[in-house]
Amino acid sequence: MKGLILSGGAGTRLRPITHTSAKQLVPIANKPILFYGIEAMVEAGIDEIGIIISPETGGDIQTAVGDGRELGASITWLVQDQPLGLAHCVLIAREFLGDDDFVMYLGDNMLEQNLIGFVNEFTSRRASPELGSTGGRVAQILLAEVDDPRSFGVAEVAADGSVVRLVEKPENPPSNLALVGAYLFDKTIHDAVAAIEPSPRGELEITDAIQWLIDEGHEVAHDILVGWWLDTGKKDPLLECNRLVLDTIEPQLDGSIDERSEVVGRVRIDSGATIINSTIRGPVVIGANTTVTDSYIGPYSSVAADCQITNAELDHSVILANSSIANVARITDSLIGSHVDVDRSAHVPAGIRLMLGDHSRVELEG
Ligand code: TTP
Repeated sequence: MKGLILSGGAGTRLRPITHTSAKQLVPIANKPILFYGIEAMVEAGIDEIGIIISPETGGDIQTAVGDGRELGASITWLVQDQPLGLAHCVLIAREFLGDDDFVMYLGDNMLEQNLIGFVNEFTSRRASPELGSTGGRVAQILLAEVDDPRSFGVAEVAADGSVVRLVEKPENPPSNLALVGAYLFDKTIHDAVAAIEPSPRGELEITDAIQWLIDEGHEVAHDILVGWWLDTGKKDPLLECNRLVLDTIEPQLDGSIDERSEVVGRVRIDSGATIINSTIRGPVVIGANTTVTDSYIGPYSSVAADCQITNAELDHSVILANSSIANVARITDSLIGSHVDVDRSAHVPAGIRLMLGDHSRVELEG
């Protein structure tokens, strides 16, 4: 079994962060989202992993992941010149995948459950003729019950558990079962992605490829997801994901904390970080070599490495590396990129002075 992680795409919903970096590298609890996906695959026994990257952000992803050895994986890089759809990713990964079964995973998705049961069920089914044999089941998808399925790929499932129909973002959903970003395929999917045509939005849709499998009489099975699942491609789900993961971190205080500071709750402070005259109320992670001075860092905040937080208050926020926040109270529900500078100035005339990238978003206090 091989792995295919989709880490290209345009990332339009996470601009301006994605103008300069890949959304899959945005950290959750100070670890890039993509690393959680790679780790989940390795944990399920899959260490030969192909990663789809775009020409724009692929270099940064390659630098961050390296050869994957530290994560226990061997990585093959697959460049997709344009984001032409999830099924297009399978098309360009043809040579890497060969005739092997594989798990396909969206690099900006996070699942609470691991992939072990999902992968094992597929493998054991296909290896056991008495259970229906290899001839039948060619794909297995993961589904989650959602309140409003209209913005998802939606599945209609028969009483025997087989998937009978898939529709992309339907106005009248046939069920409340949305497709989650993890799929299992055997080599039949290559015939499917070669047979389908681009959708009206110009993409080769994986839902169309799976529908082709069903229409050709193959068995597509499903699993219902356990626990939470988030598509981190937008700010608020990303902060929510950060919150959920911070609730599970192991407290560890490696940095230096002076005697005037107070650290309460589930907090991880990495080595080289310095906390001076400040209160840190977990769940919080503070990255290596970050300095927090005369400040309050409240619950569900992740501050990456090499940041300066001075005379400031923040909570429920994600701050990327090398940023500086000074003299502001209070920053909340925020995602702040890397090398960002937020400060209060004494310049006259008084006013708010901004230099924001394209597609930035600022909400001032009411
Ligand atoms: P999406 O979030 O559906 O698409 P996107 O990245 O283009 O984002 P947006 O809608 O904000 O513009 O993609 C899911 C994952 O699959 C994500 O990790 C990017 C990746 N992907 C590719 O690698 N190639 C593609 O052609 C597409 C569409 C997505």
